[in-house]
Amino acid sequence: MDKIIIEGGRRLAGEVQISGAKNAALPILISSLLADGPNTYYNVPDLQDIESTKLLLSNLGGQIEAEADRVHIDTSGLNTYEAPYDVVRKMRASILVLGPLVARLKKARVSLPGGCAIGARPINLHLKGLAALGARIDLAHGYVEASVDELRGTEIYFDVVTVTGTENLMMAAVLAKGTTILRNAAREPEIVALSEVLNSMGADIRGAGTAVITINGVSELKPASYRIIPDRIEAGTFLVAAALTGGNIAVQGAEPDHLGAVIDKLRLTGAEISVDEKVINIQGANDISSVNIQTQPYPGFPTDMQAQFMVLMSIASGTSVISETIFENRYIHVSELRRMGADIIISGNTATVKGVAKLSAAPVMATDLRASASLILAGLVAEGRTEVHRVYHLDRGYQAIEKKFAGLGASIQRVK
Ligand code: EPZ
Repeated sequence: MDKIIIEGGRRLAGEVQISGAKNAALPILISSLLADGPNTYYNVPDLQDIESTKLLLSNLGGQIEAEADRVHIDTSGLNTYEAPYDVVRKMRASILVLGPLVARLKKARVSLPGGCAIGARPINLHLKGLAALGARIDLAHGYVEASVDELRGTEIYFDVVTVTGTENLMMAAVLAKGTTILRNAAREPEIVALSEVLNSMGADIRGAGTAVITINGVSELKPASYRIIPDRIEAGTFLVAAALTGGNIAVQGAEPDHLGAVIDKLRLTGAEISVDEKVINIQGANDISSVNIQTQPYPGFPTDMQAQFMVLMSIASGTSVISETIFENRYIHVSELRRMGADIIISGNTATVKGVAKLSAAPVMATDLRASASLILAGLVAEGRTEVHRVYHLDRGYQAIEKKFAGLGASIQRVK
């Protein structure tokens, strides 16, 4: 198994190019199930989760071709409505085939995604919404079976803001009879990107990016051609790395508007940040101020940046309070950071981080995607040689992260 080795203590400097967004690419590639014919997607990141998505779609009968960051998908040959356990267990987001399959084939059999390291992550709101649209839902043998004569538009209120729940029901409702209104919907940029793709395929979606999305069903859709938006979490991870190391970097190809809450908090730590179109320039502070954060659905502070920001707070002057309100078990990285000398106390969903003068290098274990990113960041500032094990977690969501950090002057390498 690969591991990543880092010699800490270098200030980062230079430019880094941001890749396409994982959490936009997954639902967008899956939306190809909604129309016959060739779809083309550009700026698709080179990630393990994208490979899992391609496998999922080809298992359903899709024709997939990829060259560099372009992916061509044609699902005219869709020949099954089943997404098997072996594919779904690799990637929870596979559940996103449920809405499009029911919309297109009136039937779907999808393995239920189990829990994951960061929380139970139920899909009850996905199923409740599909049932409201008229689908019969059965759970048996670890699978959800859905079938319908005809999806009918209706009003759906989400008890909890859910990103993939909103995406799944958006993709079901575009081919339903009549109008669907999604209330308390997720407002993430990835939702807006998916609505842009679906509207370019002939759908009629209004209000994506707000808490109320209206979808007027249409009878059919045509294939899409779309450029995936930049990855705001990857961009945020590099911005935090600059703040951590007192570095001076230009994050290129990002969408600054998508990073409002992150940029705001980084400025409060003392980092100087200027934005010039698609480039975010950051100069980290010599003395990092401690700042409190509370994770929230977009446009609040993203939970996918919590672990990375905690590393910054672990060497800040003073004490900060971090509240994780989205996932019930997203502090797994804390025990590894403590092994590197961080002073963190967990109580319920709150972490109290007392800044220390420096972290010390250690062999550490990655446990989930964003936790592993935080261990890489900790290694960049820790004194000595850090070894991060199980980096396959990283490869799910970061494209060539060690090469990008090396390009900024870090002493970092992957060991097979
Ligand atoms: C998406 O997950 C992202 N994944 C996650 O990114 C991200 O952390 C999360 O949104 C929150 O921003 C993708 O887009 C592929 P949710 P998702 O449904 O949609 C509860 C990463 O690191 N809930 O918005 O699965 C749920 O348990 C990943 O890139 C229900 O109770 O998250 C959680 O507490 C990790 N019932 C809350 O809602 C449901 O039916 C928000 O989860 C659905 C969700």
